Amino acid sequence: MEKLTGLKKIKTAVFISGTGSNLKNIIKFSKVKKSPISINLIVSNTSLAKGLRYADQFKIKKKIFNLNNNNENEKNILISLKKEKIKFICLAGYMKILSKKFIKKFDGKIINIHPSLLPKYKGLNTHSRVIKNKDKLSGCTVHFVTTKLDSGKIILQKKVKISANDNPISLKKKVLKQEHKLYPEAILKIFN
Ligand code: GRF
Repeated sequence: MEKLTGLKKIKTAVFISGTGSNLKNIIKFSKVKKSPISINLIVSNTSLAKGLRYADQFKIKKKIFNLNNNNENEKNILISLKKEKIKFICLAGYMKILSKKFIKKFDGKIINIHPSLLPKYKGLNTHSRVIKNKDKLSGCTVHFVTTKLDSGKIILQKKVKISANDNPISLKKKVLKQEHKLYPEAILKIFN
């Protein structure tokens, strides 16, 4: 990954679909001096994503696209990314699968956070599956996005201990807390 030169931060887009707690956390991190990135665009596949409120709160541009819909949307999003000079993309609770074509255009420049210790529990409903299997340990992973779901090179992970009375909801809370530490650490690791 390119080294930082001077004070210029790398223009970044965050893609979301829901609550946006990771988005909020990344925006806050982007404002600290040591952050290599600035958040210049928020993309959501749905206008219902609660996290879109952070676009207004932090005065960041937002766009709503459903990338799975058709080629037209993909073209439009590429136009927006180009217009904002976006060089890096953070997926943060983005629930759509990006097309191979799109991923190849941003090869090595898209990262994602996943709520499990990859390569375990790729895909959806990780916390329910972890609890069902009576695992003692879970966690979260930030990884590069490739055309194979949740399988790109791992950047960093954090572990979370599961107690006997944890359920999918309590585990989600515990893991999210670690996600908020992990995402900035992973971004720093990539660019430093
Ligand atoms: C997080 O658990 C993330 O790991 C997963 O989706 C959730 C998004 O949460 N990909 P939020 O929208 O950032 O609060």
